[in-house]
Amino acid sequence: MSAQIIDGRKIAASIKAEVKAEAEAYLKRNGRKIGLAVILVGDDFASGIYVRNKINACNENCIQSFSHRLPASTTEEELIELIHKLNEDNTVDGILVQLPLPSHIRQNVVLSHISAKKDADGFLAENAGNLMLGNPSLNACTPCGIIELIKSTGCKIDGANAVVIGRSNIVGKPTSLLLLENHATVTMCHSHTSNFVNFSRHADILVVAVGKKGLITGEMVKKGAIVIDVGMNREDGKLCGDVDYESVSQVAGYITPVPGGVGPMTIAMLLKNIVKAALALE
Ligand code: GUN
Repeated sequence: MSAQIIDGRKIAASIKAEVKAEAEAYLKRNGRKIGLAVILVGDDFASGIYVRNKINACNENCIQSFSHRLPASTTEEELIELIHKLNEDNTVDGILVQLPLPSHIRQNVVLSHISAKKDADGFLAENAGNLMLGNPSLNACTPCGIIELIKSTGCKIDGANAVVIGRSNIVGKPTSLLLLENHATVTMCHSHTSNFVNFSRHADILVVAVGKKGLITGEMVKKGAIVIDVGMNREDGKLCGDVDYESVSQVAGYITPVPGGVGPMTIAMLLKNIVKAALALE
């Protein structure tokens, strides 16, 4: 059996087209574009590329980006002051602080100053809490993208056995909650799980977000499963996932490639979040 490839680039393109149409309609109604403020502190190379990609995606889809590039010497107080200004700015509908921040700045303290209504990343405690309670919220972008990828297969999430490997605040935990909201039976595995293969082998939906190249191999996967690979591991300049594509694609029913699976969805869902925030503030 050879798995069907879930084409994240294609799905992301169709979400971006929807976003663009909504953003154009917003511009017509309000006489201004939806706005995203992007804050980058310091000169981390990878962060610079991520921010550039986010800004380009905004520009291509009728969303105004406001770029704030601050030196690594910026203090926590200065950063918080900027966030307060952006909270009050009516032309800014979403705020994104690129992570990681320099080590002298406390990430959680800084993020907690962003208005929950403008939390483009869905990282704030208020939004994470609302997700847990099943209330309307701005949710983390990668988990939202994962759900879209799973839905694109046409397979039912309702009643499925879903296993999420990895329990980070920005991927594992919110993905588990979104799967639960979609009525899956969810198991979370992590570094203290004694033998995750006991769980992964029974998963109809397997989401892997660990950061270890090739962790999941074919014999760990149920025949016909949907396998979502969130891994982004660099080896010799090449991007590889947490899933051993060669062996797993012989067993799974559906699989996301790396690159071209989850990655493109994160930016598409970020744009969707910004539009959602803008419409709620309109
Ligand atoms: N750093 C790595 N991924 C992300 C992300 O999705 N959002 C932000 N703000 N920073 C990141």
